[in-house]
Amino acid sequence: MTDVKELLLSRIRDVPDYPKAGVMFKDITPLLADPTAFSALTDALAGLCVEHGATKIVGLEARGFILAAPVAVRAGIGFIPVRKAGKLPGATLSQAYELEYGQAEIEVHAEDLAAGDRVMVIDDVLATGGTAEASLQLIRRAGAEVAGLAVLMELGFLGGRPRLEPALKGAPLEALLTV
Ligand code: PRP
Ligand code: MG
Repeated sequence: MTDVKELLLSRIRDVPDYPKAGVMFKDITPLLADPTAFSALTDALAGLCVEHGATKIVGLEARGFILAAPVAVRAGIGFIPVRKAGKLPGATLSQAYELEYGQAEIEVHAEDLAAGDRVMVIDDVLATGGTAEASLQLIRRAGAEVAGLAVLMELGFLGGRPRLEPALKGAPLEALLTV
């Protein structure tokens, strides 16, 4: 493991039985509170955006915003918020997806993505892949191209990577850490 990955891993706190019994929650707030680690994370993700030729960066509400916004500034690329339904004032495209219990919906301003854009999606965690999959569908429905999906952490045992294969259509899935 590289020094950067070791630093990032050392700043993620395991919280047992949160939000419910049997779940080990990965808390990134110690990483965010450490300017050296947060800066290293921002640099690593910004490097991936440049490497994969992104022209727009999408962050997924809410924890994805915390990472994607500084990455967009660092990379010199525009930031596009994908929000939970009902939060954006303009004309939107929306995409519903399944949660463990019930349904969720995310939205993007329709004018923010168009043909010719190459979009990198950034989120904190890839778990089952449902959130990321919906965002990739949204981007393609807007006519834009997916440059890739980049996350701080992939929970490999939840099977998000194989689930996302069809939606990625060959675009890279970059996880800085896999647990
Ligand atoms: C968490 C996490 C990812 C998503 C991963 O977000 O931040 O976005 O779950 O899970 P999945 O791969 O199974 O879809 P959450 O919806 O809990 O909300 P938050 O980011 O607003 O805290
Ligand atoms: Mg989230």
